[in-house]
Amino acid sequence: MIRPLMKRLHEPIYTSRLRVLTEAIVPHLRADDAVLDVGCGFGELGRSILDHPQRPQGVNVKGLETHRRSPELIDVVGYDGGQAPFDNNTFDVVIIADVLHHIDDPDAAIAECVRLSRRLVIIKDHQISGPLAQARVSLIDWAANAPYGVQCLYRYHSPDEWAAVRNRHGLTVVEERAAMNLYPPVVNLLFGRSLQYFTAVRVPDAPSTPPEGES
Ligand SMILES: C[S@@+](CC[C@H](N)C(=O)[O-])C[C@H]1O[C@@H](n2cnc3c(N)ncnc32)[C@H](O)[C@@H]1O
Repeated sequence: MIRPLMKRLHEPIYTSRLRVLTEAIVPHLRADDAVLDVGCGFGELGRSILDHPQRPQGVNVKGLETHRRSPELIDVVGYDGGQAPFDNNTFDVVIIADVLHHIDDPDAAIAECVRLSRRLVIIKDHQISGPLAQARVSLIDWAANAPYGVQCLYRYHSPDEWAAVRNRHGLTVVEERAAMNLYPPVVNLLFGRSLQYFTAVRVPDAPSTPPEGES
């Protein structure tokens, strides 16, 4: 009984998150981009990008998932969470949204995203920043994932740790948001803002021109 109730309460929050996240990602896409969404779940984010009115022409979004769902909203490939079944540089843009904090070895997952991308990796995750951040982010993480049986490790990076991640992988910042207004107002006050981290980073050796956002 509690799971269906939590799912219903979570729905408007998830809808807002999807919209804001899609609007943050679309400006980084160019015409004919091949996009991979790692840990895509049902593929809602990929579908939302594909349906966005400002999506550049010819963009394709594929999903990669350890736990296949049904029905999936985009084309999804399953794998065991290790090496993805794609060659190096297969995609223009690799997205990994709220997946890294569920993974035992997030650095290995980022390395895999970098291997697969020839231009950008887009990371959306949580961040420990602000009063009672660990408690607040753990609560929203649990509430968002418990109804779906996704494991929570309750381990999140601080802003300094995110900077160290970028340095370790030789990533250049194209855009970084130290805070995101992801949720409806009151929920956002408690669980959005500086608990939410977003970055679009250029992978090593990616051409830096034309500027991101221009096709
Ligand atoms: C919180 S959900 C996020 C789903 C989706 N990215 C979104 O933004 O709505 C985390 C997802 O990561 C997936 N996942 C967990 N470990 C993974 C891994 N090693 N590789 C890919 N996906 C993974 C889970 O199955 C789950 O679907």
